[in-house]
Amino acid sequence: MKKVILTLIISLGVTGVAFAKGDAAAGKSKATTCAACHGATGVSPAPNWPNLAGQGERYLIKQITEIKDGDRSVPEMMPFVSALTKQDIEDLAAFYASQPAPQGATDAKYVSVGEALYRGGDAKKGIPACSSCHSPTGKGNFLAGFPSLAGQKSDYTAKQLRDLREGDRTNDGDTKIMRTIAEKMSNKEIEAVSHYISGLR
Ligand code: HEC
Ligand code: HEC
Repeated sequence: MKKVILTLIISLGVTGVAFAKGDAAAGKSKATTCAACHGATGVSPAPNWPNLAGQGERYLIKQITEIKDGDRSVPEMMPFVSALTKQDIEDLAAFYASQPAPQGATDAKYVSVGEALYRGGDAKKGIPACSSCHSPTGKGNFLAGFPSLAGQKSDYTAKQLRDLREGDRTNDGDTKIMRTIAEKMSNKEIEAVSHYISGLR
C-alpha cells in the first residue's frame, strides 16, 4: 500500500513538473517586445489584440509554439516569435499566466441569448454548453489546456469563432473540437456569446 501511494506521489510530482517549467520573472523581461500589442501585464489596449493575463500556461505554450511554427496564422506576430526558444516560450507563458485576469462587462442586450448558449448550448443545433469545457466562470480548465475566455475582448472572441467556423483557424487538433462547434453557430449567436463572455466572471 505504502509503495502504491509513493508511486502515485512520484508520478503526480512528475506531471506537476511537466506543466510548471517556465520562470515568470524571466518571462517578464522577455515580454517587452510583446507589450505594444498585448499590454505590459497582458491586458491589451485594442479590441482585436487578445488579453493574455491570467490565461492558462499550457494553452499559452501551445498557442505561442503553433504561431511560431505557422500552424496558427498570425502574420503580425512573426517578427516577434520566430527567434523564441522553447525556454523563452515557457517563461513568457509563466509570466502571462501569473498576471491578474482582466474583467469586462456585458451589454444587457446580449445577456439572454449569450447566457443561454454559454450555459446550455443548443440541443437542436447540436451545440454543447460552452461551460462544460470552459467552466461556468469562463476560467477554462488549465490542466486540460481548455482556454480561459472570461474578460476577453468580444471582438477578438468573435473573430476566433468565425475563423474556426470558416476553417481559417485549424489548430484545435485532429478532433476539430472547436471547429465542429463553431460550424453550427450563426453570426448572431457568435456576437451574443462573445459579448456575454467578455463580462463573465
Ligand atoms: C504587432 C502586434 C503583436 C505583437 C507585437 C505580439 N502579438 Fe501576440 N497576437 C497579436 C494578434 C493580433 C493576435 C490574435 C490573432 C488572431 O486574431 O488570431 C495575437 C495572439 C497571441 C496569442 C494567442 C492568444 C489566444 O488567446 O489564443 C498569444 C499567446 C500571443 N499572441 C503571444 C504573444 C507573445 C508572447 C508576444 C511577444 C513575443 C506577442 N504575442 C507579440 C498581435 C501581436
Ligand atoms: C468539448 C470542449 C469544448 C466545448 C464544449 C467548447 N470549447 Fe471552446 N475550446 C476548446 C478547446 C480545447 C479550445 C482550444 C483549442 C486550441 O488549442 O487552439 C477552445 C478554444 C476556444 C476559443 C479560442 C480562445 C482563444 O483565446 O483564442 C473560443 C473563443 C472558444 N473556444 C469559445 C467557445 C464557445 C463560445 C463555446 C460554446 C458555444 C465553446 N468554446 C465550447 C474546447 C471546447
